[in-house]
Amino acid sequence: MTWQRLCSLSELKEGGLAKLALDGVWIMVARAGDRIAAFPPHCPHMAEPLEESGVCDGETLTCTKHVWQWDLRTGEAIGLAEKPLALYPTECRGEDVWIDFDDELTYEHD
Ligand code: FES
Repeated sequence: MTWQRLCSLSELKEGGLAKLALDGVWIMVARAGDRIAAFPPHCPHMAEPLEESGVCDGETLTCTKHVWQWDLRTGEAIGLAEKPLALYPTECRGEDVWIDFDDELTYEHD
């Protein structure tokens, strides 16, 4: 496990998505209250860039391309989604967001 500071909590808009670089790897970050979810920047379905197709509503992330959805707390698939969302472990330490980042998470696309 390699915990690193990812960003400040104030850099993340409530209900928004941010795309951040860490060690040359792009990571999407979503904020719902004090809960932070960090995951790869493309959809598990057909690799759609989530900065374009991703929409957060509370603790649900939707890829608007084919309406796959996930629970941002667990990465679990909801409704039509057939694959989970790969999540990096995160935690808030005061005003900072930390991430457990060793290797880039990826998906196998058909
Ligand atoms: S590419 Fe995201 S749901 Fe199909």
